[in-house]
Amino acid sequence: MMEEREAEKERDKVVVLDFGGQYSHLIVRRCRELGVYAELLPYDVPLEELKRGIERAQGGGKIRGIILSGSPFSVHEPDSPHCNAEIVALNVPLLGICYGAQLVAHLLGGVVRTGEKGEYWRAELFFKDSELFKGLGERANGSTQVWMSHGDLIEGLEGAEILAHTAGSPIAAFRVRDMIYGVQFHPEVHHTEQGEKIFRNFLYAICGCERNWTPESFVREQVEEIRSAVGSNGRVICGLSGGIDSSTTALLVNKAIGDRLTCIFVDNGLLRKGEQEEVLDTFEDQFHLKVVFVDAKERFLTGLRGVTDAEAKRKVIGELFIEIFEEEAKKLGDVEFLAQGTIYPDRIESARASSRKSSRIKSHHNVGALPEKLGLKLIEPIKELYKDEVRAVARELGMPSQILNRHPYPGPGLAARIIGAVTEDKLRICREASQIVEDELRKSGWYDNVWQAFAMVGDDVATGVLGDARTEGRIVTIRVVESKEAMTADFVKLPYAVLESMSKRITNEVKGVTWVTYAISSKPPSTIEPC
Ligand code: XMP
Repeated sequence: MMEEREAEKERDKVVVLDFGGQYSHLIVRRCRELGVYAELLPYDVPLEELKRGIERAQGGGKIRGIILSGSPFSVHEPDSPHCNAEIVALNVPLLGICYGAQLVAHLLGGVVRTGEKGEYWRAELFFKDSELFKGLGERANGSTQVWMSHGDLIEGLEGAEILAHTAGSPIAAFRVRDMIYGVQFHPEVHHTEQGEKIFRNFLYAICGCERNWTPESFVREQVEEIRSAVGSNGRVICGLSGGIDSSTTALLVNKAIGDRLTCIFVDNGLLRKGEQEEVLDTFEDQFHLKVVFVDAKERFLTGLRGVTDAEAKRKVIGELFIEIFEEEAKKLGDVEFLAQGTIYPDRIESARASSRKSSRIKSHHNVGALPEKLGLKLIEPIKELYKDEVRAVARELGMPSQILNRHPYPGPGLAARIIGAVTEDKLRICREASQIVEDELRKSGWYDNVWQAFAMVGDDVATGVLGDARTEGRIVTIRVVESKEAMTADFVKLPYAVLESMSKRITNEVKGVTWVTYAISSKPPSTIEPC
């Protein structure tokens, strides 16, 4: 406990208030990349909560600064998001970005109006000497390229010092007292040449933050936190899939409480080639975790027999998983906690999706119903992390590189890549062809540069020739995409030679395949997985 309090005291935190801008997440990421823990909060978070966080460390650290994000709104629109007006009186540095800057100016009595043209491009920013722009050029006053994306302008702000202007924005950056800064441009996007330096200046010089958000400090704090949550006798179960999120969760919990953690690894028959052996070898043999292995191949295949609709397949898989997990948990007896590998984008996306009432594209099965059904308390040690941060923590915990660098894999496994009913034959084709796709990508050095790569198969058959004879076989489609966090994706423009060797090997080595195609649609409008 002592160590935990020390760590909390040590860690600095910056809060990013989310006004709905498209780059809000990027702001958080930029801070974290600079070693400062940042957290995205809704714009209307109660002022009291911020005040408490400024006074003393809680929820991951002590608030040293607040950043107000951009927004598609204009501050004068009736439904525009406004935070508590007293935010400008808090005893902590503020940085308003784009809409955030306009809102700060508006709250301080400034004039914000809609410009004639707007500025949606790179602009030359002429800046003068200030703490925020220190080190941007050789001389204190200079110019640099920034990314602008706004329709409104700040026209006047009494008592403010104007720190920069562009051709389209007379007040492109301002300072009020030594605490409040506003920038009309977006330092968080890469098009702003020296955005990182601006963040460094704000975080280190203006807020006084230290670089104390590191994988090592994260592991230390989480281990303490898990220990204090579970107590000295509590027992935990964790569904281990072999993916990076559940694996990292299992290693963290194991580090905290040793063999009071039991992992449950279910072979649902939808795993990648060699996955079962790899998971058991890594976690049982190398890390000495307690793993209960459940061979449920038959049960899943029987449940899926004849089910063709993609959502119906997901439902069968999700329900069977819960059923099996429940049975195993009961066998173990007095378990009180369930550890889950929920990560930051999962939480933010589900919170946004529920508030926006957006339509459901796919029901991702991440066992959300389990804790309630089993009456278990939830432990989610990596819920604050982005995927690349999970990888950094996993590396810190000694995760072997084949798991560390493996592409993300969907909960429903190969069923997400089999169009129509899941049969043994289609499973075999999908598994073997996917293995060839992965192999060829590794051989050609592409594997680590793409987000996901696999083969998919449906019920269509096409004519081929085998020797001199006509034959019929299935069509396999290769899908290789690049993406950041899977919200959007583009197909990868692989060299023809790589595609050719994949195609040759698939038609030669995978029995029953006559044609190979390459998926060349992006997300949107396609999704990454076909089902
Ligand atoms: P889509 O196909 O919706 O996938 O573009 C986006 C990302 O999510 C993965 N995915 C899933 N992950 N449970 C998961 O945990 C699921 O049911 C699921 N479905 C898709 C997919 O592999 C991609 O990375």
